[in-house]
Amino acid sequence: MNKQAPLDFVEKYYTDDLAERNTPESLWALKWLEEVKGESVLSLGCGPNFYDDAQFFTNLPKEFVGIDLNENNIAFLKQSTHPEIIRSKEVLDKNHTNISLIVANIKEKQDTFINHFDTIYANGVLGMFQEDNFVNLLKLIHLYLKPGGVLIDVDWTDVRLTREKLQERESYEWYSTQGPSIQRINELLQKTGFTILKHEVYTVPDPISYNWGKIYGYVAKKIDSVEIANKCWNPDTGVETNDCELKKIK
Ligand SMILES: C[S@@+](CC[C@H](N)C(=O)[O-])C[C@H]1O[C@@H](n2cnc3c(N)ncnc32)[C@H](O)[C@@H]1O
Repeated sequence: MNKQAPLDFVEKYYTDDLAERNTPESLWALKWLEEVKGESVLSLGCGPNFYDDAQFFTNLPKEFVGIDLNENNIAFLKQSTHPEIIRSKEVLDKNHTNISLIVANIKEKQDTFINHFDTIYANGVLGMFQEDNFVNLLKLIHLYLKPGGVLIDVDWTDVRLTREKLQERESYEWYSTQGPSIQRINELLQKTGFTILKHEVYTVPDPISYNWGKIYGYVAKKIDSVEIANKCWNPDTGVETNDCELKKIK
C-alpha cells in the first residue's frame, strides 16, 4: 500500500488551491460545480476542498457526503480553523445540510450508497485510475445514482510536473497519469449506462508554469431503466445492435 499524503502536504495543497482560485484554470474547473444538483450529493476523493466546493453549487444539498482514502484529508476537514473553511461550514450549517465524511477506498462498494445520490462528482480523481478500475468505478457510480442522477468529472491531463513532484503525488495516490484518454472515456461512459450531457476541454495557455496542459470536464446522466430497456447494444463493444438477443447492460 502506498503511503498517505501527510497533513502538511494536505494543508499546503489547500492553501495553494485557495491562492489560485481566481485564475482562469481554477475558474474553468470550478464552474463545473454549478452543475451539482439535488438533495443528496457525493464527492468522490473529496480531498481538503470538500467544504469549499459547496460555495460553487447552484443549490445547497440536504445531504453532502465526502469520501477519501487519505485519513489526513478527513482529519484536516474536521480540525482546520482556516477562516475559509469555517465560513464554508457555516453556510452549510445554516442550510441544515447533513455532512458525512468517510475514510474509505472508492473502489470498494458502499451498500448504503446504492440508488441514493442525485449528483456524484469527482474533481481531479477519476482520471488517475487505469481502465479496468475506471470502468468498475463507473459501474459503482451508476449503482449509487438515483435514476436520472448525474456524474460530474473534472480532470487534469498532459502533466508537466517535475519528475520528483509527480513521483511524490503518485506515491500518495494523489495524482497519476494512468487514466483513459478523453475519447476512450466517452466510449466507456456509454458502455456503462451513461449519456453525456455536456463535455469540454480547456487548453492551458501556459502549461509549463501551470504544470498541466489540459483540463477536461463532463456531465453524464445515468440512463434510467426504461431508456436502457428500449436499447440493445453489445456490452463488450458498446456498439448498438438490432440483435436484442445480445445481453443488455451488465
Ligand atoms: C488530486 S486530489 C483531488 C482532491 C479534491 N477532489 C480536490 O478537488 O481538491 C485526489 C484525491 O483523491 C483521493 N484518492 C485517491 N485514490 C483514492 C481512492 N482509491 N479512494 C478514495 N480517495 C482516493 C486522494 O486521497 C486525494 O484526496
